[in-house]
Amino acid sequence: MASKFINITLKIWRQKNGTTKGALETYGLNNVSTDSSFLEMLDQLNEQLINERKSPVAFDHDCREGICGMCSLYINGRAHGPDTGVTTCQLHMRTFKDGETIYVEPWRSRAFPVIKDLVVDRSAFDRIQQAGGFVSVNTSGRTIDANATPIPKADADKAFEAAACIGCGACVASCKNGSAMLFVGAKVSQYALLPQGKVEAQQRVLNMVRQMDEEGFGNCTNTGACEVECPKGISIENIARMNREYLKAIVTED
Ligand code: FES
Repeated sequence: MASKFINITLKIWRQKNGTTKGALETYGLNNVSTDSSFLEMLDQLNEQLINERKSPVAFDHDCREGICGMCSLYINGRAHGPDTGVTTCQLHMRTFKDGETIYVEPWRSRAFPVIKDLVVDRSAFDRIQQAGGFVSVNTSGRTIDANATPIPKADADKAFEAAACIGCGACVASCKNGSAMLFVGAKVSQYALLPQGKVEAQQRVLNMVRQMDEEGFGNCTNTGACEVECPKGISIENIARMNREYLKAIVTED
C-alpha cells in the first residue's frame, strides 16, 4: 500500500513535574506519514518543537517493538490507542484520518504518579515483582535437565500466556478502580502453574498481594476492561487463579 501523508491536531498533556498542575496543549502537525508509528509521529512533533525553541514532549519508550512495556500512553481515551492487541509503539498513523484531532494523555492512576508530561512512575510494579515474582534457584551443584520435570502441555501453555505480560500498566490505566490485579494475577499464575513455582507459592502470593495493596492500587470489581485493553491478551482467568492461590495461602499461613 502506498504511503500517504496526513495533517493532524494533537492535544497533549503537558505537566512540568509531579507537583505542578498539568493541562492539554494543542499542536498542529503536518505531513505525517501513515507508515510511521505513533512514537515516530511524536519524534516528528518534538523535532518541530525544538526547531521552534519550545520544550519537547517527554514520553517513555525503549524497545519500540512491543516487548518492554515502556510506551504507555492513553490515546483518544484508550490505553495504547484504538487498535487492539498492540502497544503504543506498534500503533501506526494509518489508524488515524487526515484532519483528525488526537488526544494523548499519560496513564492516570494514584499508584502511577506523573513524572513529566506523558511519563509516569511505574516503579510500583517493580516493587510488586521484587516482593515475590521470581523463583529461587540453588546454583551450586549440577543443573537439573529441564526434561526431567514433566509439565502437562495445558499448564505449560497457560503459564506461557501469563508470562507474556510486559508490565505496561494498561490494565491499571483502563480500570475504573485503578486495580493491578491482572498484572499481579499474571505474575502469580506464571509460577503457580509450574512445579518450579510451587515451592514458594504460598509466600509469593501473600507478599505480592500485600505489596500491591501497599502501593495504593484499587480492587477488582470484574468489569473486564483490563482484559480488553491488555496488548498481550492476558486473560482475567489469571485474577481468579491468583484469588484461589491467595485464599489457599491465607488459610494455611502460620
Ligand atoms: S517501547 Fe517497548 S513496548 Fe513499546
